[in-house]
Amino acid sequence: MSFHVITQAPARLNRSELAVPGSAPQMFEKAAASDADVIFLDLEDAVAPDDKAQARKNIIKALNELDWGKKTMSVRINGLDTHFMYRDVVDVVEQAGERLDLIMIPKVGTAADVYAVDMMVTQIEDAKGLKKRIGFEHIIETALGMQNVTEIAGASKRNESLHFGVADYAASTRARTTIIGGVNPDYSVLTDTLEDGSRAVHWGDMWHYALARMVVAARANGLRPVDGPFGDFSDPDGYRAAAKRAAVLGCEGKWAIHPSQIALANEVMSPSEAEVTRAQRILAAMEQAAAEGKGAVSLDGRLIDYASIRQAEVLVQKARQIAAG
Ligand code: GLV
Ligand code: MG
Repeated sequence: MSFHVITQAPARLNRSELAVPGSAPQMFEKAAASDADVIFLDLEDAVAPDDKAQARKNIIKALNELDWGKKTMSVRINGLDTHFMYRDVVDVVEQAGERLDLIMIPKVGTAADVYAVDMMVTQIEDAKGLKKRIGFEHIIETALGMQNVTEIAGASKRNESLHFGVADYAASTRARTTIIGGVNPDYSVLTDTLEDGSRAVHWGDMWHYALARMVVAARANGLRPVDGPFGDFSDPDGYRAAAKRAAVLGCEGKWAIHPSQIALANEVMSPSEAEVTRAQRILAAMEQAAAEGKGAVSLDGRLIDYASIRQAEVLVQKARQIAAG
């Protein structure tokens, strides 16, 4: 136990994060009217090199002119290894910084990458007299980024969330897969021969370690961990299963790379009524226990103690945050 209190990033709902290509302005209005908690307008991998300049203009116009309601708005800039990145930051923050809440930095590899963008954004905000400080979301999607995830998570006061970019992460680690997220039959365990003479195959989750590692770095630094894309948008059950795995590990949300995935993410990333009711019963039982001078009691035949209060509070607070919208 440490006496340090971890400063938490500003509380924002981040259950669903919709990706919208900056080169597809015809999609902007539908996105603005959607139920996504966060929208990132993309300048990076969904935009072809020849379209980058126009996509920047589309995004600036849309941030300034479209009614995005209470949505948290983000722009995914290009990586620090491209020459597009500096102009993404300068043009978008100078010309649309008022409505921009977050900048999403892809392929972040080191704490110095965060510093570099922080320095640029700080200069532009100061020069423009912007009052609101823009936050950062980082995509952990390279072997280097995962190696340095702890330093990245603590590298700036602007940091708000870490995102697992499964597609680029697979490429960077040279994983033998071409799908985006989801499971792989080759990542499985073959049991020994069972009593009936058969052998069973148990599929595993090849992303478990990476996601769990990112969740720890995020939470240890007060940031929101968010699971990235699930490419097969015609498989809602597969999406739901992936989102549930992320949620039980501690993730607050998941990307939607298709509008149909927004409702799935919101559903999975909101605690169910049954979970909230049980959490409330735990809190009530522990309050009663405290009044009786007890530290641990049983509820429905199971032990609960002070750690149960902390677990239950996470769920109850989340439900409150969702109700407040
Ligand atoms: C997201 O950017 C990914 O690479 O999965
Ligand atoms: Mg990527």
